[in-house]
Amino acid sequence: MSRSDFAAIILAAGSGTRMKSALPKVMHPLAGRPMIAHVLATIAPLKPATTVVVIGPRMDSVAKLVEPAITVVQDPPLGTGDAVRIGLAALGGRLAPDGEIENVLVLYGDTPLLRTETTARLLEEQEKASASVLLAAMRPADPGPYGRLVASGDGRILRIVEAADASPEELAVGICWPGMLLIEARHASELINALDRNNAQHEFYLTAIVGLAAARGLECRAIELPAEEVVGVNTRAELAAAEALIQDRLRRQAMSNGVTLVAPETVFLSVDTRFGRDVVVEPNVFFGPGVTVGDGALIRSFSHIERAVLGAQAVVGPFARLRPGAVLEDNVHVGNFVEIKEARLGAGAKANHLSYIGDSSVGAGTNIGAGTITCNYDGINKWRTTIGERAFIGSDSVLVAPVTVGDGAYVAAGSVITSDVPADALSIARSRQVDKAGRGAELRARLQRKG
Ligand code: UD1
Ligand code: MG
Repeated sequence: MSRSDFAAIILAAGSGTRMKSALPKVMHPLAGRPMIAHVLATIAPLKPATTVVVIGPRMDSVAKLVEPAITVVQDPPLGTGDAVRIGLAALGGRLAPDGEIENVLVLYGDTPLLRTETTARLLEEQEKASASVLLAAMRPADPGPYGRLVASGDGRILRIVEAADASPEELAVGICWPGMLLIEARHASELINALDRNNAQHEFYLTAIVGLAAARGLECRAIELPAEEVVGVNTRAELAAAEALIQDRLRRQAMSNGVTLVAPETVFLSVDTRFGRDVVVEPNVFFGPGVTVGDGALIRSFSHIERAVLGAQAVVGPFARLRPGAVLEDNVHVGNFVEIKEARLGAGAKANHLSYIGDSSVGAGTNIGAGTITCNYDGINKWRTTIGERAFIGSDSVLVAPVTVGDGAYVAAGSVITSDVPADALSIARSRQVDKAGRGAELRARLQRKG
């Protein structure tokens, strides 16, 4: 699946007003990845000669994310047609007939569910029988605000009518434009430069090039694609609907790769979540970006995991939190109400109850008792805790970093460890217990007299 004679222009400059957000619309994440990154990942395997992303002013975050794609700034945003004009300008002399680019693929940055195979179908169709404009088409359950395709009896597309400009008869058309098309490069600039703003929104509509092409006797055709892949995201409700679709896709993929999801609809995955075989995920688990899970691991209910690596046969949760930089080697157990951040736990290590292990390394076979806390932050700097292999940290211990506990060492329960513990030592860092005979009864009697 590779052709290099097409360029991609991705439109992402719109302010996304309907999202009511400070974040550019295309930066809103789906399954842990910004929408625009989904679009780029979809087209990457098709190897476009160049990808141009049209962004708005103050969208530096988008420009950085899409590198090495070229970005051009559209300011002010005068519509999708104006955005494509600016994108084409960036391709300059590379367009046919003078340059090597035969076709321009236009995609919308707010259409993140598109699959590579589906985009490839559009390119293949164009290869078979080139049309001056080849449109993607879909039949959504609710055509709502989508542009409607108006076709002639012989299947040629005569124009696209925006919902805002459509007559009741046109609104009744069920076949819509999802925001993806191919234009033959040699006609692209001429058609785009002929656009005007005579429409309900006083914008340069990209959709109007279809009517312009038809009027010039150029062929416009459409191929229908599955609606669930090409739905656009314009509102938070549509973002949630798209999230539901992509989650469903990711869960099915995980299960078909040999993962047991006990209640799939309650498990949230990221596009890059990687599972080994025979992983079992109990209900209500959240996987943020950057998680890899080894073979046979068990992730119990209500765990929250992001940017973490779980080794084979690891057991995590219920109610565990693995934050960025958590690395659990094989057979590690992390239990309820344990938080791990930027810490590596060696093979077979256990931290089963109520702990915070941050900026640490814990050797193989070490047991971290209930309620152990690594004090990694002094209010200004972060410091590391190093615990050796086969060590035993007694319950409710506090390890004040920077500090090292040697291999095979014991730390007594309730200790506050502020200096290094040598290998195989037993460290007790708490006040000695004092038992005062009979004083409990005396105290009770005194308190009762006062009451
Ligand atoms: C657009 C189409 C509509 C189609 C729908 C599919 C037009 C005029 N309408 O409507 O026919 O059914 O998409 O989802 O094209 N953008 C810019 N610069 C601009 C305006 C928009 O880059 O000046 C970008 C946006 O960031 C967005 C994309 O273009 O990624 C589409 O814009 P949007 O405002 O969402 O168009 P729709 O109203 O959804
Ligand atoms: Mg849109």
